[in-house]
Amino acid sequence: MTSRAKHKRIAILTSGGDAPGMNAAIRSIVLAAHHYHIDVIGFYHGFNGLVCADNTQPTIKLTLDDVSNIIHRGGTILKSARCQQMYSEQGIKQAAKTLTAHNIDALVVIGGDGSFNGMLSLAQHWQGQLIGIPGTIDNDLDGTDFTIGFATAVNTGIEAIDKIRDTADAFERVFIVELMGRHSGHITFNVGIACGAEQVLSFENFSVDDKQAKLQQLADEIKCAQENRHSSYIIVIAENLWPGGAMELAKELKQQAAIECTACVLGHIQRGGSPVPKDRLLATKMGVAAMQAIIDGETGIMIAEQHSAICHIALAQAVKHHKMVNKQLVDAQENILALTAQNQY
Ligand code: F6P
Repeated sequence: MTSRAKHKRIAILTSGGDAPGMNAAIRSIVLAAHHYHIDVIGFYHGFNGLVCADNTQPTIKLTLDDVSNIIHRGGTILKSARCQQMYSEQGIKQAAKTLTAHNIDALVVIGGDGSFNGMLSLAQHWQGQLIGIPGTIDNDLDGTDFTIGFATAVNTGIEAIDKIRDTADAFERVFIVELMGRHSGHITFNVGIACGAEQVLSFENFSVDDKQAKLQQLADEIKCAQENRHSSYIIVIAENLWPGGAMELAKELKQQAAIECTACVLGHIQRGGSPVPKDRLLATKMGVAAMQAIIDGETGIMIAEQHSAICHIALAQAVKHHKMVNKQLVDAQENILALTAQNQY
């Protein structure tokens, strides 16, 4: 143990949309901190736990007991929230004041791009170390191959659509399934391809300007499939893509092409559940790496993983652009689609 490490006091919060594996990350940080005899304070309800001026938000000194048996639990023991006040100078200054009042040397935030933007604002008013851990089902943070929660969300989506496929097959029905991801198609492409969806519609392969043409194309392809193969047809679509979402697309296919579709919005089911092993392992590695980064005096970074190796990415870089969906995945879907259209499978 170094003398510098001995006196550090760190804080953790979870912020934004919760993601399966956040608890595993909290556990990992607390275990690693214990190893270095460092105190860990948990703030509840994301940044709201910091911006509360009268200090009435509860905090918890996280012990080994607090983090035992949580590696497999979804959600977050520290609760989560979005925090409008972190967009105002007054809120940010209050957050800095709270951290100073609690003698915090380093803050670890487990969250997505909104949370990391909050950290960048905080850096203007607080001198402590700021370490981000990417925790979001959306997988949209630039610089890390995967974010904590993504693998579980994909798994949940696949399990759900496999079940939908059974009933869709039985009725030879067309289903439109809407998946989360905010403005990124990582979940949509991964789930869609792994489920063998006949269509994957996302930001990477569709623009709303081409809505009418896409509607016609969908109608033609669905009719062709229905004539040639008596089976189900599943369209997987990213949320926030089609104006009015899956329900509206179903309505338009009915009105404009007399095609009956059943729309299904998977929604928050994708955020819940026990993290799959990949998320538990990623969260554990990242928690340990965050603790190491604190000991090494780092700040303004996101813990990332690239090609299975942990690395550090500047927070500003992580939020500059949304990470693109792997082009090979997008191309693969295009090629599969071409085969489906020709009924070659
Ligand atoms: O960022 C995670 C996420 O689940 C997105 O996929 C989704 O768009 C958003 O959060 C939903 O947020 P809320 O639960 O606040 O409606």
